[in-house]
Amino acid sequence: MRKPLVAANWKMNGSVDFVKNFFTDLENKIDHSTVEVAVFPPFVYLSEAVKQSQSVSIGGQNLSDKAEGAFTGEVSATMLVDVGCTHVLVGHSERRSLYGEDNQMVAEKFVTAKENGLIPVLCVGETLEEREADKTMDVVKAQIAAVIDLAGIEAVTAAVIAYEPVWAIGTGRTASPEQAQEVHAAIRELLGEAGGKTRILYGGSVKADNAETLFSQPDIDGGLVGGASLKVDDFAAICGSV
Ligand code: PGA
Repeated sequence: MRKPLVAANWKMNGSVDFVKNFFTDLENKIDHSTVEVAVFPPFVYLSEAVKQSQSVSIGGQNLSDKAEGAFTGEVSATMLVDVGCTHVLVGHSERRSLYGEDNQMVAEKFVTAKENGLIPVLCVGETLEEREADKTMDVVKAQIAAVIDLAGIEAVTAAVIAYEPVWAIGTGRTASPEQAQEVHAAIRELLGEAGGKTRILYGGSVKADNAETLFSQPDIDGGLVGGASLKVDDFAAICGSV
């Protein structure tokens, strides 16, 4: 019922040559009948990625909550759409922790993305400190509730959610399939009836050798992959693990 989605978050990596080689190599390594694939390159490479990709969706890693105007350094939702993006990451933990994006700001960006026809990939997840204090679900629920309050439940269930425990991002320390499944199931329950069709991705040190056990969990519908998405063979193997 839910087609698996595997997404590549390149973060601040890549070059024009990298984009060209990546898509040439990737396209024939993926079975598009079993998996949907999205790639999130840095802003400056979005146009090139759209040009190079045939069947892979392209998205921005961030967007402004403002429509247009005097906001130096920002990129709007309409600009992302204009260059051919269909998706956008919203509330990645690096945006939250390094650039001060709070739940309200993330909710505003989510609404802006939806209003412009982009599919938001809403990233949520707890820090190690929060997990150890047994606050994982409180944190994740508050992150999602802020978006539901502003955007409405229908908009959230029609989007994609990525559960990314902060302690697992870029650390090589993956959540166990059971830990991830527990949170995914709780998120789906929070979304209510329509949550049955929402894709909930796992992110945080997903690699070619752990993707299959993670993706085999009933409520894990694919992954948001950082480091391992920069090697096309690894990323293709992860896409093939769904
Ligand atoms: P990672 O990053 O796969 O390198 O842990 C995931 C992410 O931040 O989306």
